[in-house]
Amino acid sequence: MLLKTVLLSLVAAALAQNHTGTLFTFDPGLGACGFTNTSTQTVASVSQTFFNTFPGHTANPNLNPICKHNLTITHNGTTVTAAIVDFCLTCPQFNIGLSPSAFTKFATIDEGIVNNVTWHVN
Ligand SMILES: *[C@@H]1O[C@H](CO)[C@@H](O)[C@H](O)[C@H]1NC(C)=O
Ligand SMILES: *[C@@H]1O[C@H](CO)[C@@H](O)[C@H](O)[C@H]1NC(C)=O
Ligand SMILES: *[C@@H]1O[C@H](CO)[C@@H](O)[C@H](O)[C@H]1NC(C)=O
Ligand SMILES: *[C@@H]1O[C@H](CO)[C@@H](O)[C@H](O)[C@H]1NC(C)=O
Ligand SMILES: *[C@@H]1O[C@H](CO)[C@@H](O)[C@H](O)[C@H]1NC(C)=O
Repeated sequence: MLLKTVLLSLVAAALAQNHTGTLFTFDPGLGACGFTNTSTQTVASVSQTFFNTFPGHTANPNLNPICKHNLTITHNGTTVTAAIVDFCLTCPQFNIGLSPSAFTKFATIDEGIVNNVTWHVN
């Protein structure tokens, strides 16, 4: 009971925090959360480091509480919210990914990258 309360407050603290990072695009498939998603769905990935340090994580990535959350990304007046479904193995801690259909709200697929986006888990 006490542990659960501590965990909930850790999650709440994690959710309140904004991060700055680089946005890229990725092709969804069977992701770390165990869902199979497609490039036309509005889905997101975080770095493996961020995923594996989210409060409540265990050895089984499918059970990571982050999989029940969305990522909200803001850049230059545009905001997109996408479900977190996967992690990126090689990304720096605060880099994030969006499926192509969501990424194109910020830049073209050819551009491929958007620097200095503000994001948080919600
Ligand atoms: C996080 O960033 C968003 C978008 O810039 C802003 O609206 C929000 O107030 C920020 N939240 C915190 C806790 O700083
Ligand atoms: C991602 O895929 C799962 C099924 O694997 C589905 O339940 C979920 O709605 C999909 N997410 C989005 C945002 O479409
Ligand atoms: C995530 O976003 C979807 C679609 O906007 C919404 O239905 C859902 O309630 C959100 N989940 C959370 C945990 O905010
Ligand atoms: C920011 O948005 C404005 C208005 O949509 C656009 O003209 C400008 O090129 C954008 N700047 C960047 C750095 O994306
Ligand atoms: C990054 O974004 C923030 C918030 O939009 C802005 O204040 C800052 O000037 C930007 N920094 C760079 C290097 O573009």
